Amino acid sequence: MKFFLDTAHVPHIREAAELGLLDGVTTNPSLLSKEEGEPRELVREIAKLVEGPISAEVVTLDAEGMVREGLEWAKMASNIVVKIPMSIEGLKAIRTLSKQDIKINCTLIFSPIQALMAAKAGASMVSPFVGRLDDIQIPGMELIQQILEIFANYEVGTELLVASIRHPLHVLEAARMGADIATMPWAVFQSLAKHPLTDIGIERFLADWEKVKNRP
Ligand code: E4P
Repeated sequence: MKFFLDTAHVPHIREAAELGLLDGVTTNPSLLSKEEGEPRELVREIAKLVEGPISAEVVTLDAEGMVREGLEWAKMASNIVVKIPMSIEGLKAIRTLSKQDIKINCTLIFSPIQALMAAKAGASMVSPFVGRLDDIQIPGMELIQQILEIFANYEVGTELLVASIRHPLHVLEAARMGADIATMPWAVFQSLAKHPLTDIGIERFLADWEKVKNRP
């Protein structure tokens, strides 16, 4: 499973990229609004830092506007994936842009059939939001299972990107189900490498080594 960071915070993106474990980044207008500076410049900088796909979202609501914005994003760097929200206008824009070989991430997916429609329109990724479903007491990971089942039934090549991840268990479940990508906040990314027993184990080994290291 690929690990993406769901952030526009360059220091965190740089650190994860240096670790060699970062396969891509997802941004959205809300994430960009939390950072300093001009948002397009920020996306351009992120696209230089990371080799993998960088999602950048359109903010118009009609297909024509989405296509225009999508073409602008795609011109910026070869690894930019245009993020288009799920809607009838969005589906039209996905069809038009994908025919021009522009990669699309269809975002704000909350039902399995929305995911199937986005895939049929030509999206290369779909982003179901698991955390936001959990927030309203609908089990988000069940949506992932259903989309994976449907994509397997019809050998759909579109990648399933698990979005709106809130905690490490979402990542674990996504990997067990066979999702293609998990995009996560920095705190979740960091927590994946941690386990209290690992910390206790390291502490004990170091303490025991102190006892014997000067033995003749
Ligand atoms: C994904 O691409 C979205 O940017 C993101 O995962 C949304 O997460 P949120 O529900 O925590 O805002």
